[in-house]
Amino acid sequence: MKPQAILCTCHGLPEPAFERACTAGAHNVKTCFQHLGCLPQCGDCAPKVRKVLGDHIARQSNGAAGAAPLPTKPS
Ligand code: FES
Repeated sequence: MKPQAILCTCHGLPEPAFERACTAGAHNVKTCFQHLGCLPQCGDCAPKVRKVLGDHIARQSNGAAGAAPLPTKPS
């Protein structure tokens, strides 16, 4: 199994931890850390966390664009 790259070295958090935080509703760097039970320290990882957030939002947008249309009421 490939070791996970650490995204936040201050807390030893890998990228999948931030992806899970996004899935759980985090919408910015601060709320990502809150979902992970900590607060950002040095902030060096913030650009990478924003990238994870942006990629998550893009995947959601693509999913919504490809979603089936809502059913219409029968007339
Ligand atoms: S590397 Fe994430 S807060 Fe320092």
